Amino acid sequence: MVAIDHPPWTPTSWQERPAAQQPEWPDPAALDGVLKTLSGYPPLVFAGEARQLTDSLARVAAGEAYLLQAGDCAESFETFSANSIRERLKIILQMAVVLTYSAGVPTVKVGRIAGQFAKPRSSDVETIDGQSLPSFRGHMVNDVEFSEAARRADPARLVEAYHQSAATLNLLRAFTKGGFADLSRVHHWTQEFVRTSPEARRYETLADEIDRALRFMRATGIDPADQATLHEVDFYTSHEALVLGYESALTRIDSLTGEHYDCSAHMVWIGERTRALDGAHVEFFRGIANPIGCKLGPTATVEETLALCEVLDPDRTPGRLTLITRIGAERIAEVLPPLIEAVRSAGHPVVWSCDPMHANTFTSPSGRKTRHFDQILGELREFFAVHRSLDSWPGGVHVELTGDDVTECLGGAENLADDQLDLRYETMCDPRLNGRQSLDLAFGVADLLRT
Ligand code: PEP
Ligand code: CO
Repeated sequence: MVAIDHPPWTPTSWQERPAAQQPEWPDPAALDGVLKTLSGYPPLVFAGEARQLTDSLARVAAGEAYLLQAGDCAESFETFSANSIRERLKIILQMAVVLTYSAGVPTVKVGRIAGQFAKPRSSDVETIDGQSLPSFRGHMVNDVEFSEAARRADPARLVEAYHQSAATLNLLRAFTKGGFADLSRVHHWTQEFVRTSPEARRYETLADEIDRALRFMRATGIDPADQATLHEVDFYTSHEALVLGYESALTRIDSLTGEHYDCSAHMVWIGERTRALDGAHVEFFRGIANPIGCKLGPTATVEETLALCEVLDPDRTPGRLTLITRIGAERIAEVLPPLIEAVRSAGHPVVWSCDPMHANTFTSPSGRKTRHFDQILGELREFFAVHRSLDSWPGGVHVELTGDDVTECLGGAENLADDQLDLRYETMCDPRLNGRQSLDLAFGVADLLRT
C-alpha cells in the first residue's frame, strides 16, 4: 500500500504539502490579516453538533438510515436572501419526506449550503477572444464576470463568506427548529411552479397520507404535539473545504474532547481534484474530528482508496468517513465493486454515497454544460445494483440542485430539451436539478430503496 510519512498534525501542517486548487492571492499581507481576523471570530457550528452528525452517519454506515446531501453547486453572494434559503430548504425537506415515507428509512439531511462558496476548476485560466484571466473559483475568492478586476482573488471575500454562512445557518436553524419543518406543514413545502405537475400530485398524495397518519395518532391518544421529532428537523451543513486558509482559520479545539474541529460546517468533504494522498487537503482533513467526505472519481484505484481510508479513518470510526463516488453511469458497474470489497476487507465502516452528477456532465449541441436526468438516475440505479449484489448498503445520494424553476439539466418528467436550456440557465458553475427534477429524483431513489 502507498504509505505517506505524516509528521505531527497541526491546523497548519497542511502548509508543508502541495496544495492544489488554491487561489493566487495578489496581496499576501491582506490575506494574512483576513485569516487572523477569521481565527478570532466565533465558530459557525458546535463540535457537539458535528459529533451528533457522526453518530447519525454511523447509522447510515450500519444500513439503518439513508444520507441525503444536497444543495447548490456554488452558493452566490448575489442571490442571498431569506427566500433563496427557504426555497432550497423546502426542496430538501420534500425529498427527505419522500425518502423517509416511501422507503421507511430515516433520512440524514445535510445541505450543500452555508459555506459552499469555493470551486475547483479544470484550468487556472479562462481565455475568451484571446484574453486570458484567472478562472472563477467561487464567490469566496473572486467573481464570475470576465474582467480583470472581477477575477482578482480578494481576501475580503473570505470574511463575506463567513458572514453569509453565519446568516444562512441562523435562518436554517430557525426554520428547522421553529415550526417551518413541522410535519403538519408538508403541504406547504411545494413550490408554486411545481404545484400542478405530476410529481407534485404524487407528493400531495403522500402528504395526504402523512396527514392521515397524524390524525390517526391523535385519535389513538398519542398527542403529536408531544413528539419533538414531528416538529423539528436535524439539518446539517456541509461544503467542499477547498480554500485551506479559510478552513484552518475556522478550526478550533473542542473544550469537551480536546479535539480539533473545522467549525466552518458540520461536515466537509475533499473534492476529486484535491484528494492526492500527499497533498495539503488530505493532511488538513486527517486532523479534524468532523465527519468528512471524500469524492472518488472513475480513475480511483483500490490502492488509493485504501490509503485514503487509512489516513482519514485510522481508527475505523463508524460515520467518520463518507466515500462519495462520482464515477459516471457508464463505468460505475466496472469501477465500484472492487472498491467496496477492498474497503470492507480493510474494516472501514464507511458511508457509501453516490454523486450521480459530476461524472455525467457534458456539453450539449447548443453549447451548454449540462447533465441528463436519465444518466443521473442511471448512475444511481447502477450504484444500488452494485451495492445490493455485494450485500453492501447504498447509503446515500449527493446532488446539486436548486428549488428554483431553472433549465440546466436535460430530461426529467418535464423532459427538458436542449433548446430549452437557455430559458433559465442561471448556475455560476455546474448544471443543477430544478425543483421538479429534484422531486422526481427523490421518487426514483425511494423506489430503489424499497426494492
Ligand atoms: C462538487 O461537488 O461541486 C465538485 C466539484 O465535485 P468533484 O470534486 O467530485 O468534481
Ligand atoms: Co459541482
